[in-house]
This record gives sequence, structure tokens and C-alpha cells, in this order.
Amino acid sequence: MIDEDELLLIPGPTTLSSRVREVMARPQQSHVAPEFYNAFKDSLELSRYLFGNSKGLQFLFTGSGTIGMESAIISLLEQEDRILSIETGYFGHRFTMIAEIHGAKVDTIVTPLGQKADPDLVRKKLQSNKYKALLFTHVDTSTSVMNDNSELARAARDNGAFAVCDSVCGIGGAPLVFDTLGADIVLTGSQKAIAAPPGATLLAVSKEAFSAMENRKTPIHSYYMNLVRWKPIMDDPKIYLTTPAVQVMLALHEALVEIKREGIENRWKRHATLANALHAGLEALDLKPAAEVGSRAPTVTAFYTPQGRSAEIQETLRSQYAMHLARGFGDYKDTMLRIGHFGNISATDILSLLGALELILNKSSKVSPGKAVETAEPLLRSA
Ligand SMILES: Cc1ncc(COP(=O)(O)O)c(C=O)c1O
Repeated sequence: MIDEDELLLIPGPTTLSSRVREVMARPQQSHVAPEFYNAFKDSLELSRYLFGNSKGLQFLFTGSGTIGMESAIISLLEQEDRILSIETGYFGHRFTMIAEIHGAKVDTIVTPLGQKADPDLVRKKLQSNKYKALLFTHVDTSTSVMNDNSELARAARDNGAFAVCDSVCGIGGAPLVFDTLGADIVLTGSQKAIAAPPGATLLAVSKEAFSAMENRKTPIHSYYMNLVRWKPIMDDPKIYLTTPAVQVMLALHEALVEIKREGIENRWKRHATLANALHAGLEALDLKPAAEVGSRAPTVTAFYTPQGRSAEIQETLRSQYAMHLARGFGDYKDTMLRIGHFGNISATDILSLLGALELILNKSSKVSPGKAVETAEPLLRSA
């Protein structure tokens, strides 16, 4: 069981603030009470602030990030639509799978491990066929690769394709402004850089994309994951569609209030500072981040472990230092570890992790104790 003092550094869910936790422990509230309605309305406004979305539509409903992905696909795409999907890791591949399950003809661009998509290559591919949409992942949590959203959204627009971005591991920690991005759908989940519990999905949708959903040739084949059906509820959350996960929504509201209080740009800066220092500290220990320089995310870091020691290092971090890291994905289970450094993770947490890694590695690889902490500490002073 996770203890109060344990540090959750997996790439979501993440450590919650005491205020967010406290909200979830309150007596059960009615989902039709004015208190819930007011909090939900306010969450929609705060979500607009979080996404930088003053022009498009904003959605928020119960479900994990995958529900957001599938709602975007199922609402926008029709059978036989041709789609281009960029795979910068496992979650890019998940987007491909969802589109295929719903009958789209999907072409893929699979980037070499650790590299973001090359916008020129994407442009060329988009010009080679009539694509209805371009699917891409802002930050792929499996590889910690961050794509250049603006370039990809522009490439899609220039070629008459809708740009659909999975920012489950981006928003709240990595810069993104929906109003200026030019994407048609950006979606996320509550449990990563927003620092709320899992269970809510949030989407920003352009007017053009929503109009395409309303004017499809064929009906949307879903009751729940149908954004056209959700729209009246977003306009007036008093209308009943399904019972929301009340506690999750109220906790999310508190987390969004905390983001507004910090200020989104300050939050992006803090995440960038922590990530830079962490990367420098890991490299001082010869632990190479999986993402190349220029493709690294400010929210999550996958790094190679020496001699397939992922399991052992993960276990020692937990048993001796009360810190949780995640293993690498799929084939990288034994050779990578992944760190989620978003939401409420602090400079002190980063130094503690680097210190613990030094002590573990010092026993076998003879790394110099203090080296990673010494490297990272000056870089953290502005955090
Ligand atoms: C980039 C990315 N997309 C989508 C998902 C799926 O979200 P969920 O697990 O909340 O369904 C995740 C989850 O880790 C993710 O990291």
C-alpha cells in the first residue's frame, strides 16, 4: 500500500495536493445540487484557461484519457476515411488502433525511437493522399518524446486535414495554446500534469471540427463517446446525460483552481526548469534519456538503465527510498525506467530522486556520490 510519505514519480497518476485529496474525502454530493453545477461550470471556464481556448468548444466528462481519444475519433471520423497517424511511441500506436477499430483507413509515420516527427516528412505524406485527419501525440509517455505541435497542426491545416492532438501527457506542464495552435481537437486526461485523480477527460474542439461532426453523412456510432450529444450538457450542465464521477470532478475543479493560482506560464516554466535539471543530473550519472535533445518533454522522462537493471533499480527505489518509478514500455521493460515529473513534483523531489539513484548506482557502477545532485542543483534555483 502506498504510504503518505511515498513519492509517486510514475508518469500518472501523480501526487495530489492536500486540498485536492481533501475534496475527495467529503460526504457524497448530489450531481444535480447547485454546488456541483457551479463547480462544473467553473471547471469548464478553468479548462478554457488551461487549454488557452477562448474560440473553440470545450468539453469535460467522466472517463480516462482513452475515452477522450476515442470520443475524438468516433465523433469526427466515418468509415473508410483516410487518416495519417504519427507514432512517436506506444500512445501514438494506440491512436492508430482506435482509428482502425472504427473503420478508418490509416497510414502511419513511425519515428525512430527518441525522435519527434519531422514536419517536412509529414507534409510530404499529407500531400501524397487526401487525408481527413492527422493524429499525433503531444508527449508520448512511453518514450518521453515531445512533438512540435504547431508545425504538425500547420502541416495538417495546409493540406486540408483536421489536426487531432493527444495531449494527455502535455497540457498543464508543456506549453500549448489552443487558440493559436491551429489544431482542431486537443484532448487530455486529469491524472498527469493537471494533478487531479484519474477519471476525467477534457477536450478542446474547433468550430470547424464540430461542424464536421454535426454534418456527417452517417450517424456517430456511440451513445457515450459522442461529442455532439455532450455539447448541450457543456452549455448547461444541469441537463442529465449520465452520472458524472462527482468526487473526481470536484477534485479536478480544485486542481484547476490551483493551476490558475500558479499561472499557466509560471507552471510551464517550472516544469521546464525541473526537466532540464533532471536531464542534466541523469546524464551526470551516465543514464541516457531515451528522447534526443530537441525532442525531450518537460513532463516525463524515460531513461536507459545499465545492464537491464530496471526491475532491481525500481524495486530498490521503492523499498529503500519510498519512490515509485515506472518501468519501460513493452520491449524496453528491462532496459528503461520512466519518471513523471509533473503537477506538484518539486525541485526537492528531483534532488531526492537523483540522490537515491546515485546511492544505488554507486554500489555497482562506482558513480561519484554527489555528482548528479551537484549538477542539477544550480539549475533548479529558479524553480
Ligand atoms: C500520451 C497518452 N495518451 C493517452 C493515454 C491514455 O490515458 P488513460 O490511461 O487515462 O486512458 C495515456 C496514458 O498514460 C498517455 O500517456
